[in-house]
Amino acid sequence: MPTLLAPPPSVPAAAPVRRPFPPSLPSRAPAQIDLPAVSFFGRTLAEYAQFFALDLPALRRRDVLDVAAGPSSFVAEACARGIDAVAVDPLYAGRVDELTARIDGDYARMLTQMRAKPALFRMKSFPSFDAAEADRRAAAQRFLADFSTHSLHGRYVAGALPRLPFFDDSFDLVLCAHLLFIYANRFDFDWHVAACRELARVSAGEVRIHPVCGPDGRPYPKLAALRRELRAGGIESEVVRVDYEFFIGSGSMLVLRKGAT
Ligand SMILES: C[S@@+](CC[C@H](N)C(=O)[O-])C[C@H]1O[C@@H](n2cnc3c(N)ncnc32)[C@H](O)[C@@H]1O
Repeated sequence: MPTLLAPPPSVPAAAPVRRPFPPSLPSRAPAQIDLPAVSFFGRTLAEYAQFFALDLPALRRRDVLDVAAGPSSFVAEACARGIDAVAVDPLYAGRVDELTARIDGDYARMLTQMRAKPALFRMKSFPSFDAAEADRRAAAQRFLADFSTHSLHGRYVAGALPRLPFFDDSFDLVLCAHLLFIYANRFDFDWHVAACRELARVSAGEVRIHPVCGPDGRPYPKLAALRRELRAGGIESEVVRVDYEFFIGSGSMLVLRKGAT
């Protein structure tokens, strides 16, 4: 008579017992922020100053371009400090009410993601998610007020990488945050090369790109190839650590300078 410990007839007696993973074990899929579309989500000048390591007093009366600026308040705040700042983003072709609706939807989605995946974050600049949310919502409000007043004066320009509506060497400093590598899966390698060349084309000085990682916090996998390609076209690059981290892996920027031979 079979005992209760005997294997079922279909399993050979010598076969190792395979236990199912307990449901509490994490899945093997890499943890990351899910970014199905590029979000219209923005940050303040204080946060820009940290992740781009900006010397704000030194930028007074200098021409600064914020590419993929979204609803960031960087340009509004920079202009208030005497910096000649301009923002460019494809969505600036829209009306204020359209941008407001876009902010409402994208902020809700992005903030839900953040709160659902706290293990991805190591916030140096904020004591809590609530504080980070309040800061980013304040950025969007300041942006909307400034956009209503100043889009007609050329402070907010509709345009998209990899082709920007500016002459060569128009700006002393060109910034681009939270587009290139964080959305690496939406843009292919050739697009990244073209986008970096375009950022460098409109800059007479430096380009700073932040962060240098993807949505999983790992460095952009084709970074070495991208830097080689840029160098071959006369653009030097350097990865610089910054005193900032919001999601894990976001503590650096890529700096580009023209002039290599
Ligand atoms: C996450 S927001 C970043 C906003 C801001 N730079 C910041 O860091 O707070 C990304 C922005 O990129 C813009 N964008 C999407 N495709 C773009 C493109 N091809 N060229 C320039 N901007 C683009 C979106 O409209 C959106 O406003």
